[in-house]
Amino acid sequence: MEIRNRVTEMLGVQYPIVQAPMGWIARSQLASAVSNAGGLGIIETSSGELDAVKDEIRKMRDLTDKPFGVNIAQAFVRDPDIAQFVIDQGITFVTTSAGDPTRYIDQLKGAGLTVFHVVPTLKGALKAVDAGVDGLIVEGGEGGGFKNPQDVASMVLLPLVRSKTDVPIIAAGGMLDGRTMAAAFALGAEGIQMGTRMVSSAESPVHDNWKNAIVGAAETDTVFLNRFAKPGLRALRTERSSRLEKEEVVNMMEFGTAKDLYFGGDMEASLALGGQVMGRIESVRPVADIIRDTVEEFFEIIGSLNDSYLGQRVP
Ligand SMILES: Cc1cc2nc3c(=O)[nH]c(=O)nc-3n(C[C@H](O)[C@H](O)[C@H](O)COP(=O)(O)O)c2cc1C
Repeated sequence: MEIRNRVTEMLGVQYPIVQAPMGWIARSQLASAVSNAGGLGIIETSSGELDAVKDEIRKMRDLTDKPFGVNIAQAFVRDPDIAQFVIDQGITFVTTSAGDPTRYIDQLKGAGLTVFHVVPTLKGALKAVDAGVDGLIVEGGEGGGFKNPQDVASMVLLPLVRSKTDVPIIAAGGMLDGRTMAAAFALGAEGIQMGTRMVSSAESPVHDNWKNAIVGAAETDTVFLNRFAKPGLRALRTERSSRLEKEEVVNMMEFGTAKDLYFGGDMEASLALGGQVMGRIESVRPVADIIRDTVEEFFEIIGSLNDSYLGQRVP
């Protein structure tokens, strides 16, 4: 089984399911599992650890013969040569995020790469299309991670961007299964990107405490920090993040020692970025199962939309 559309053609994958870039997490162990399962694994650069990233890209070539991509999170990687760094690694697909879409586009396109830019608003989408990107990752405010403080939910943002642009769209924010994938396609997307679901997958390198916190969380268990300042971000509700939720400005020093949370399992040591979709995650599952079930359910849901119980058309 496979899905054929502009996104699968451009990415060279079986299924238009992309694993989100995530600092320290989106490395070869997780990304190769996604690529081997027919989706697209992405290697992060937001950790800023470019030597480690280079090594992870090399490992990817041992772990999979399937395509994978790299993310340039512009606000976090200040190395002026980051685009050349990615080109030098022989990467063919890049997502750019958290920054200006015009910044690296000529260099990346000039080297023959396919470039998707992450956008949280229609204005950002139009700017990226003007800049010449191949596609958009349209990211709803319910998603995890750094966010536009004026967040817009996928339900509004996806059809809005679809109605004003023609490039392929990958939907991010709240994507988890075949039902959300079918909904995203109905709203105008041709692919989906999963962040929080992948943090809580079996192959994710984070500590079990984080995965279990996601499994135990309700849909109300995220906080939005820096609503009136930058950068906005959505994270798991903990004692630390609940306290910060009430602060008008949250300094990034509050990230504390991220690795103590990510890999040491101390959930109060830092902020565990994550989206509202954690309220729908019920177990830690292998990536291959997540992707297989998503595709199967996607086709099931699409088929069931014609069933009478969902609303039969009466002439
Ligand atoms: C732990 C974590 C780290 C993230 N880091 C990045 C990043 O480095 N670059 C980026 O473009 N997006 C980042 N994001 C956002 C994701 O790419 C993705 O768009 C988002 O998680 C989608 O929403 P979901 O969590 O509902 O799946 C991060 C998200 C999480 C949960």
